[in-house]
Amino acid sequence: VIEQVGAREILDSRGNPTVEVEVALDDGTLARAAVPSGASTGEHEAVELRDGDPTRYNGKGVERAVAAVLDEIGPDLAGVEAVDQRIVDQKLVDLDGTPDKSRLGANAILGVSLAVAKAAADSADLELFRYLGGPNAHVLPVPMLNILNGGAHADTEVDIQEFMIAPIGAESFRESLRWGTEVYHSLKSVLKSRGLSTGLGDEGGFAPSLSNNREALDIILVAIEKAGYVPGRDIGLALDVAATEFYGDGAYTFEGAKKSAEQLIGYYTKLVDDYPLVSIEDPLGEDDWDGWIRLTAELGERVQLVGDDLFVTNPDRLEEGITRRAANALLVKVNQIGTLSETLDAVALATSCGYKSMMSHRSGETEDTTIADLAVATGVGQIKSGAPARSERVAKYNQLLRIEETLADAARYAGDLAFPRFDP
Ligand code: PGA
Ligand code: ZN
Repeated sequence: VIEQVGAREILDSRGNPTVEVEVALDDGTLARAAVPSGASTGEHEAVELRDGDPTRYNGKGVERAVAAVLDEIGPDLAGVEAVDQRIVDQKLVDLDGTPDKSRLGANAILGVSLAVAKAAADSADLELFRYLGGPNAHVLPVPMLNILNGGAHADTEVDIQEFMIAPIGAESFRESLRWGTEVYHSLKSVLKSRGLSTGLGDEGGFAPSLSNNREALDIILVAIEKAGYVPGRDIGLALDVAATEFYGDGAYTFEGAKKSAEQLIGYYTKLVDDYPLVSIEDPLGEDDWDGWIRLTAELGERVQLVGDDLFVTNPDRLEEGITRRAANALLVKVNQIGTLSETLDAVALATSCGYKSMMSHRSGETEDTTIADLAVATGVGQIKSGAPARSERVAKYNQLLRIEETLADAARYAGDLAFPRFDP
């Protein structure tokens, strides 16, 4: 039974304040969760409450969200069973009373929702992935390692936000992480040898100044080969274009020119012809439904098309996408929707309609590793948590190493489960 809910303002990986919540149960269990934060946020995301007080943290303080936990949410949840996750989450939604969680703040709400789940797991003496996923949780996700950063996550002219590698050919998560990390180091050498910057972007990937997006893909292919792996067979490529960021007034400003959705679709088709791409996220803007529908008809059989800003982990927007055949996969970010139950609803809807799901961190992260457990609990088979470097990114991958070890012979790496169509 929930006895007390505490909260405090802590820092995230970009040095911005975020919410940390602690839930205490009457049996002495104490569990903690911290909330991530995006930079290329979608218009339709649940609202992250910031103080707007310019005298503290440039207005980015979260004292109001902390107060919402202490003054309103805590008293409302006292006496509720921690295992009643859906009741807890419904109470949070009702107490907030707005469709976008803007009154209490999705950051306040999510912190509580996750901390309650962790407390319930601890109290039952179960690891979080087992508590949430039950006895069948055994699939380790393919890590989509973001090794080259552009867009809103870097100070360069590279339009595409994330260039990821997916070690689909590995036998285990542990092996996939080693392969990907070797390629990360190989990329550093290649960049150095070409006199390019090895400075890092927000998600730990390198952020060199390159003349265009294909150059990034070409350099990554060289890095994969130099590390001794075969592109496409061992390691696939994946992108998060985050196209909403460069969309405005009916056009996409891409590689220095204004482009229509049609032109971008042509560009992506050529990319899929030329590179071993397994997944493209947000190739078009968050409200460009017509473009998404055309793109999905054109490329949906050949490559995974992931809706991030398009769906914002919102079951209602996902349902619209499924009905209209836009995208074929869901990006899952707990703080876009704000409660664990709604997150699980979105994944369940995707799965039941043949859409894949990719668990995801945010560009602003903390040491919290909940999404690693969530990836195994839901069995989605894919996770993106940035580069295999920087502790806030690596914390999630390290947790997956532990989970794989715990599962021992029962563990199954998702390589060919997640990407069966791309078997060479
Ligand atoms: P964000 O970026 O966390 O800055 O929104 C991640 C993404 O777009 O997937
Ligand atoms: Zn994205």
